[in-house]
Amino acid sequence: MQSPTIPHHHHFTTTPTIRLTKPTSRFTVRMALRPDAPSLAVVGVTGAVGQEFLSVLSDRSFPYKSIKLLASKRSAGKKYTFEDNEYVVEELNKDSFDDVDIALFSAGGSISKEYGPIAVEKGCVVVDNSSAFRMVEGVPLVIPEVNPEAMTGVRIGKGALVANPNCSTIICLMAATPLHKRAKVLRMVVSTYQAASGAGAAAMEELELQTREVLEGKRPTCNIFKQQYAFNLFSHNAPVLPNGYNEEEMKLVKETRKIWNDKDVKVTATCIRVPVMRAHAESVNLQFASPLDENEAREILKKAPGVVVIDDRASNHFPTPLEVSNKDDVAVGRIRRDESQDGNHGLDIFVCGDQIRKGAALNAVQIAEMLL
Ligand SMILES: NC(=O)c1ccc[n+]([C@@H]2O[C@H](COP(=O)([O-])OP(=O)(O)OC[C@H]3O[C@@H](n4cnc5c(N)ncnc54)[C@H](OP(=O)(O)O)[C@@H]3O)[C@@H](O)[C@H]2O)c1
Repeated sequence: MQSPTIPHHHHFTTTPTIRLTKPTSRFTVRMALRPDAPSLAVVGVTGAVGQEFLSVLSDRSFPYKSIKLLASKRSAGKKYTFEDNEYVVEELNKDSFDDVDIALFSAGGSISKEYGPIAVEKGCVVVDNSSAFRMVEGVPLVIPEVNPEAMTGVRIGKGALVANPNCSTIICLMAATPLHKRAKVLRMVVSTYQAASGAGAAAMEELELQTREVLEGKRPTCNIFKQQYAFNLFSHNAPVLPNGYNEEEMKLVKETRKIWNDKDVKVTATCIRVPVMRAHAESVNLQFASPLDENEAREILKKAPGVVVIDDRASNHFPTPLEVSNKDDVAVGRIRRDESQDGNHGLDIFVCGDQIRKGAALNAVQIAEMLL
C-alpha cells in the first residue's frame, strides 16, 4: 500500500506552469516602522489568523509607528520577533486601545463583542475577523476587490467597526463577483470542502495527531471535533439551525446578499470539513440573468484582480488546496457550461483559496491598507 503523504501547513507544492502571487519570503525583513504611520494592535496574535496577520503585515511592508501584540492571560509574556524587534504579548484589557489607530481582531466573536466597542470608543478603527458584527446594519462587510465602496467614510482617527467576511464567502465571491458584474447571478449553489485551519491552530494540531494515531493503529484523539477527522470528512462543525442549515452555510447566504447589496440573489450552500490542513475548496454553480459563455467567463476571470485561472483540461490540472496554500490569489478552474441549464445561463466553477490568508488575515490587512 502506498503510504499517504501528510500535508503540513508549512509545506506546499506548486506546478511550474502556474504562477500564483507568492508572498514575499518570511525571512526577508522589510522595516516598515515609521513615526508618521498608524499605531497597530493585533488581538489574538498567538492564533492561526493572528500569526498570519504578522506575516502579511511584514510581506506587504505595512507602515506602522508601533505594534501591540494582544492575547489572553494564557499567552501574556510570550515573546515574538517582528521585523527585527522583540515584542512581548500583553493581556487584552480595556486600556489596550489607548493610542491605537487600527486594531486587527481575531480572538473569536465574544472577545470582539466585548472589546470591539471599547476600541471604537477610543477612536480606533477595528477590522474584525469574527462573525460578531458582519450582519449589523451600518457595519461595512468588505472584500476590497469586490465592494471597496462600502469603506466610504471610514478613516483613521474616527472610531469604526469594519467586518471581514466569512472565509468561505470571501473565496467564493472573489471568483463569482467578476462574473456577477458581467451577467448578474440570480442563483448560486455552493458546496465546500473546508480545511482544518479554518477552525484554528488547535484543529490543525488535532488533524496531524489523529493522522499519526490512525496510521499507528491507535484510537484518534477527538478534542476539537467530536468525530474522527483523519481519513474522514463530515458536515461543518458550526451549529445546525432550525431550518436544517448550519451557521457556516447561512453565512454564505446572508453575507453574499450584503456584500453584493442584492437582497434577491438566491444562495444555497452545503459546508463540509475535509482532512486538508490549509486552504478551502468550493464547487460553485451559477445561474445568470444574461447569457455568459464559458470562454468569456474564463477571460473575465483571467483579468480579475486576486484571481488566477488553473483550468487545464488536457492534463486534468485544476486548483488544489495545496497549490494555493500560503498564496494570496484565489484559484479558479473547471470553468464549464452547466448543461442542465438552458443556453448559456449557467456555469460550474471550482475555486480554491487559502482561508487563513485571503479568507482572513490578507483580506483584513487589505482593508486596513484602504485607510492609509
Ligand atoms: N482560521 C481561519 O481560517 C479563520 C478565518 C476567518 C475568521 N476566523 C476567525 O478569527 C478568529 C480567530 O480564529 P483562529 O483560527 O486564529 O483561532 P485560534 O487559532 O484558536 O486563535 C485564537 C486566538 O484568540 C486568543 N484569545 C482567546 N481568548 C482570548 C481572550 N479571552 N482574550 C484575548 N485573546 C484571546 C487566543 O490567545 P491565547 O493564546 O491567549 O489563547 C488566540 O490568539 C475567530 O473569530 C475565527 O472565527 C478564522
